[in-house]
Amino acid sequence: MTESLSTALDAAVAAVRARTALVPDVGLILGSGLGALVDAIEIDARIPYPDIPGFVGSTVSGHAGELIVGRLAGTPVVVMSGRVHLYEGYGIEQVVFPVRVLARLGAPTVVVTNAAGGIHPDHRPEDIMVIRDHINLTGQNPLVGRNDDSLGLRFPDMSEAYDRELADLAHRVAAEAGLSLRDGVYAGLLGPSYETPAEIRMLRTLGADAVGMSTVNEVIALRHMGVRVLGLSCITNLAAGISTAPLSHEEVYAVAQAIRSRLIQLVTKVVEALRR
Ligand code: HPA
Repeated sequence: MTESLSTALDAAVAAVRARTALVPDVGLILGSGLGALVDAIEIDARIPYPDIPGFVGSTVSGHAGELIVGRLAGTPVVVMSGRVHLYEGYGIEQVVFPVRVLARLGAPTVVVTNAAGGIHPDHRPEDIMVIRDHINLTGQNPLVGRNDDSLGLRFPDMSEAYDRELADLAHRVAAEAGLSLRDGVYAGLLGPSYETPAEIRMLRTLGADAVGMSTVNEVIALRHMGVRVLGLSCITNLAAGISTAPLSHEEVYAVAQAIRSRLIQLVTKVVEALRR
């Protein structure tokens, strides 16, 4: 459906352009409980997902569902406040459609945030991890099907899916602000059940440092379109079996709130440095 994807993207971009002429330098995807970053934005347009053709609404609590265009620390940004996940029952095309719109709106760089369970033995709840690489275990790939050559290559390179310069920039601005960051590999699973302790041991063996239910397919779609990606995981809990406590969305949400102000500080400084 090559032609129709491009046409659908054009329609979504037109709906956004009807509300604002601002061209973003950076796109932001806000994960669980991180919607408060929006308060730091000088808003030009705030568009509920249902008002944008091709967008579907998120069904998870803790996720709003609107596209915000404005300025953060002076830098033009487009922000996805809320994302949709495969586990909500949406198709992969629907899951990655909004990030493709970020790219089509002109954002050369996207900062992807998420909540994740910590697998690396040094990870603690409330840590922020710079994603250095990922393992896609969702069983899906957004590029399956006929390739739209106007978007990107049939076989896009993923050897530096998470841009090294951006990761280094994140560390630099974090150090200046007195924040410490971790680095690691993010494993993206389908969900929505949390993992079993045996699955977490498997993921550790596979080289994963954190685990979550988003991000990987978005990043594949963004890399396909040539967008540079910075990934930031908020470690909201120790993964199953690493601590004996049962996992709950409420806990994940509460810890995301506790990380919020540091993450906002970090993202704001990164975005400030990325002004074109
Ligand atoms: N597993 C999967 N997804 C998550 C977790 C987890 O432990 N924490 C936050 N998102």
